[in-house]
Amino acid sequence: MLEIRNAVAVITGGGGGIGLEIARYWVQNGGKVVIADVAPQFLENAEAQLKSMGGDVLSVVCNVTSEEDCGKLADAAIDKFGKINLVAPFAGIIKDAMMVSTDKETGKVNRKMTLDQFKAVIDINLTGVFLTVRECAERMINHGCQGLICLVSSTGSLGTAGQINYASSKAAMSVMPKVITAEFFRRGIGNRIRCVAVAPGYVGTAMVKGMDQKSLDKILSDVPIGRLIEPAEVASLVGELYRNEALAGDVYFIHGGLRLGSRG
Ligand SMILES: NC(=O)c1ccc[n+]([C@@H]2O[C@H](COP(=O)([O-])OP(=O)(O)OC[C@H]3O[C@@H](n4cnc5c(N)ncnc54)[C@H](O)[C@@H]3O)[C@@H](O)[C@H]2O)c1
Repeated sequence: MLEIRNAVAVITGGGGGIGLEIARYWVQNGGKVVIADVAPQFLENAEAQLKSMGGDVLSVVCNVTSEEDCGKLADAAIDKFGKINLVAPFAGIIKDAMMVSTDKETGKVNRKMTLDQFKAVIDINLTGVFLTVRECAERMINHGCQGLICLVSSTGSLGTAGQINYASSKAAMSVMPKVITAEFFRRGIGNRIRCVAVAPGYVGTAMVKGMDQKSLDKILSDVPIGRLIEPAEVASLVGELYRNEALAGDVYFIHGGLRLGSRG
């Protein structure tokens, strides 16, 4: 079992939502954190919160779609703490829309998901994760670090209507742990650096709470535990996946029994 005490976590999207909650969990358990986010004001608040808990924290403004920013982030973690033990690339966005929408009266297509809506989600949720993980993995390997790369998929990866961009990016997160685990196994580092993904259902963060009440009620009617997942519950799962070295290459759902029905 690995210990979180003195372990170093690099968390993108660490300025808010689940990313910040993982940082809190890490600090509560004696770990050190590097939080990265594209929004400087979120980062500032997050850093202040973590420091008030006694945390050893570095915050880095980083747009995960930039190769240069991701390289600088990984370097900053090594410069400050000398190692990386957990990589949690949790920066992500949604831009929901039907691929094609039809007019109720004419039955003809009256709206389409734009290329920008599609690309923005792929750039951050898929390419951004690739860059973050590649740059951090390089430093972990070269500095002899031990630990976990913990990606974030979603129940959306199973195919939710209105999310062809998001669902595609999250389906990719479900296969990446297998690819990375196989590559590290081939190179004889699978026993040192593991890779998994968590796949949450609906978590109570800005991403979900921004929905209108009607959509939220509809979602909750399909969740047997009758409420949103708490960000702290996802953070605790990430902590367990880190500690338990038997867990590698797989996707771990956390959705309160969500029944996707005809939507997925
Ligand atoms: N909330 C949910 O229900 C849910 C469910 C399943 C999966 N997820 C995934 O968990 C992750 C975190 O979601 P959340 O609910 O905490 O979202 P959130 O919106 O609360 O937080 C996301 C953070 O990512 C940052 N970010 C956005 N674009 C960025 C970029 N280009 N570079 C760096 N940072 C950027 C934002 O500033 C924000 O602080 C996402 O990948 C999301 O897809 C969320």
